[in-house]
Amino acid sequence: MLVSFIVAAGVTISCNTEEQTLLDEARRYFSPLPVVFDSRINPVTPEKVWLGKMLFYERRLSINGTVSCARCHPIEYYGTDRLKISEGLNCHEDLRNAPTVLNAAGQRAFNWTGDRPTVEEHAKKALLGKVSTGITSFRWIENRLKSIPGYVELFKKAFPGDKDPVRFENVVLALGAFERALVTPSRFDMYLKGDIDALSEEEKTGLRLFIEKGCASCHTGTLLGGTIFRKFGIVEPYWKYTGSKKIDEGRYSYTSDPQDRFVFKVPQLRNVAKTPPYFHDGSVKTLKEAIRIMGKVQLGIDLSVDEINSIEAFLQSLTGNIPQDMLTVPVLP
Ligand code: HEC
Ligand code: HEC
Repeated sequence: MLVSFIVAAGVTISCNTEEQTLLDEARRYFSPLPVVFDSRINPVTPEKVWLGKMLFYERRLSINGTVSCARCHPIEYYGTDRLKISEGLNCHEDLRNAPTVLNAAGQRAFNWTGDRPTVEEHAKKALLGKVSTGITSFRWIENRLKSIPGYVELFKKAFPGDKDPVRFENVVLALGAFERALVTPSRFDMYLKGDIDALSEEEKTGLRLFIEKGCASCHTGTLLGGTIFRKFGIVEPYWKYTGSKKIDEGRYSYTSDPQDRFVFKVPQLRNVAKTPPYFHDGSVKTLKEAIRIMGKVQLGIDLSVDEINSIEAFLQSLTGNIPQDMLTVPVLP
């Protein structure tokens, strides 16, 4: 009687220890999502978020009334257009694949080359441009918005105390606030907060592999990415496996530093199961294939089918719930 009790207790303890070790290890690399990605420069308020959401859907902020942010980043499809390469004004091809806007505000740098430091700086340039909106002057945007009475009211509410609230700077702050509020917690966050049963056994196996194989050395932090830059194709050229026709030199195109050739921002992996196609040129259709290629070209390893399946299961646990108030399309003034 006594003996079996000790054995049983022993088993439980060793099992829990193993579980606890994995959780401790995971916590060394990752952390749960915050409620919003707040900022001292741009404190997130409900009024700014509300206005920012409208601006996000506002096609009148393009030269011929056809393009809004939502065109390439539809929230209902997890913040991406599901195209290999985005299409802007008059179906002009953009340069690269559109990353998701969900949770994106928490990154240290923006775009595949990391050429923008904050979502606000990013929005400034996204609003203007020949390929995207066809608008080249921020005054045009201010005048357009001032001509719509409903917006004048919304800007006053979002920027109380500002004598001239309908300004380009505030357009950018409102859009930024909206993006900072696009946060989609998932079961992985529950797990990191201590609910060990929030992940299935297979997902935990995938998490363990993700750490042990070295994925987490690049895909780290709250978003499993978005913190550092690395060469795509450390072991072998990436295009050998992705079949990319156009070779993209990545960060080199922005810094002109030869060391930055084929260097890209390590992308975040939140909601990654929902945002195919993969890589900066959308060259790979399935998540399994993207995982296999990562093993090959970043780590120089052949992941087995079982390992790929488990890692994919883990990455699926990063799919969050998109809150209902984010999904509803606003009625524009
Ligand atoms: C024509 C399609 C298109 C439109 C319109 C568009 N985007 Fe994008 N967006 C992209 C593409 C493509 C990228 C990646 C660009 C790159 O890395 O070269 C991107 C990148 C981003 C990123 C960076 C994501 C990351 O993980 O680095 C954010 C944030 C973003 N867009 C927000 C916006 C906002 C806000 C608007 C509206 C003002 C907007 N976008 C309009 C296609 C578009
Ligand atoms: C040395 C750094 C590094 C390692 C290690 C690494 N990655 Fe990546 N990962 C990247 C970079 C850089 C990209 C962007 C490539 C591109 O498209 O330009 C990327 C892209 C991805 C993508 C595509 C994301 C998207 O939205 O298109 C997935 C999925 C991914 N990695 C998963 C993994 C997995 C799983 C592992 C481990 C087997 C891993 N990565 C190991 C740096 C790394």
